[in-house]
Amino acid sequence: MNYIDFKQGQLHVEQVPASQLAEQYGTPLYVYSKSQIIKNWQLFKQHWPKPHRLCYAVKANSNLAILQLLAEQGAGFDIVSAGELKRVLKAGGDPASVVFSGVAKSEDELRFALQQGIGCINVESAAELERIQQVAAELSQSAPVSLRVNPDVDAKTHPYIATGMKANKFGIAMADAMPIFKRAAALPNINLLGADCHIGSQIMSSEPFLDAAKRMFKLVEELASEGIKLSHLDLGGGFGISYEETDRLDLENYLKGVLELANNYPELTLMLEPGRAIVADAGILITRVEYIKATDDKRFALIDAGMNDLLRPSLYQAWHDIVAVQETQNARGQLVDVVGPVCETGCFLGHARHLTVKSGDLLAVKHAGAYGFTMSSNYNTRAKPAEVLIDQGSSYIIRERETFDDMVRGERLLKRT
Ligand code: LLP
Repeated sequence: MNYIDFKQGQLHVEQVPASQLAEQYGTPLYVYSKSQIIKNWQLFKQHWPKPHRLCYAVKANSNLAILQLLAEQGAGFDIVSAGELKRVLKAGGDPASVVFSGVAKSEDELRFALQQGIGCINVESAAELERIQQVAAELSQSAPVSLRVNPDVDAKTHPYIATGMKANKFGIAMADAMPIFKRAAALPNINLLGADCHIGSQIMSSEPFLDAAKRMFKLVEELASEGIKLSHLDLGGGFGISYEETDRLDLENYLKGVLELANNYPELTLMLEPGRAIVADAGILITRVEYIKATDDKRFALIDAGMNDLLRPSLYQAWHDIVAVQETQNARGQLVDVVGPVCETGCFLGHARHLTVKSGDLLAVKHAGAYGFTMSSNYNTRAKPAEVLIDQGSSYIIRERETFDDMVRGERLLKRT
């Protein structure tokens, strides 16, 4: 059961009709279900017993209230910038539970992370390792690190979100790993804790995950034989969700499979960094149809949400289900292209959808809880939407709709005499 579903012919988020939310808060509007987020988190927890750890990937949805909910659930966090770390701290997260990923961490970011007592820095290159040594030495600290290794597996996902192949910019090539681990173990201000990998996102089969895990366990063994003992292995995120509700990743099977592999390494704590799988199906983007435009061979629904609000369809040709909030309008209607207001042909949310809609009707773009708001922009000077969290029968505004003044804050006119 999903907490976002139709009841008495109306789309509801938990007990609240989407149409009521649109009236109250305006559109476009991101709405999230608290119960669904917690349910998704619990599913991971249930199949991932302690001492193994879970670090929510903040980039998927970084709203403070959502981070707060997850912190209350005991989540650790995977961050990729000082900004994300500041969010985690503001939301009540424990810095010791945070892992810091990202290919180009600046000196300032590393210094800030170390000063805050970060749990682990996931190092992406030999050059970054040297930089961390230098920053940690300046602070007279010992930096907890893991080395991100690129296991060279094909995750069979969209090329823009595949990260674990040789050709990608991420991590240290498996073939180069040993000397860099040795260097890390020898550096005076480095505390080498682990190894990590992340092979990509929206991966729909356990095979590439297990393949990568096997390669990583092998590396752990090779390191041990060289006298380098790791205390953790972080296998990243990337768990695919079912946007089309056809196939789905057998998550339980994967988690079981990894835990089985881990039986041979009782001293190793395993970590995962799920993002999308926690928040995607817990969110929708509610939008209103401004106009219907029919040409000889096409029918367009021109809506008030665009690529600046939800970039995934434009950037990755990602498919999101789009439903009318009034269930009867979803009966196999005419084919409609659902397109946004931004002045780009690529500004669309869905092509060729069966919808019977007219101007003023409300639509909901589903599975918009992950990489939705966090990838939004002000392109075309469009204010970012508001975000609302539903907790059973009540709605809470967790981000106000942006204003024009918010958008131009920091800009300056040139002085004229
Ligand atoms: N860990 C690392 C090191 C990552 O780079 C990512 C995502 C995650 C964890 C979380 O992956 P997830 O469990 O959410 O798949 N904007 C794209 C997705 C980019 C993912 C980038 N890295 C999209 O909208 O599909």
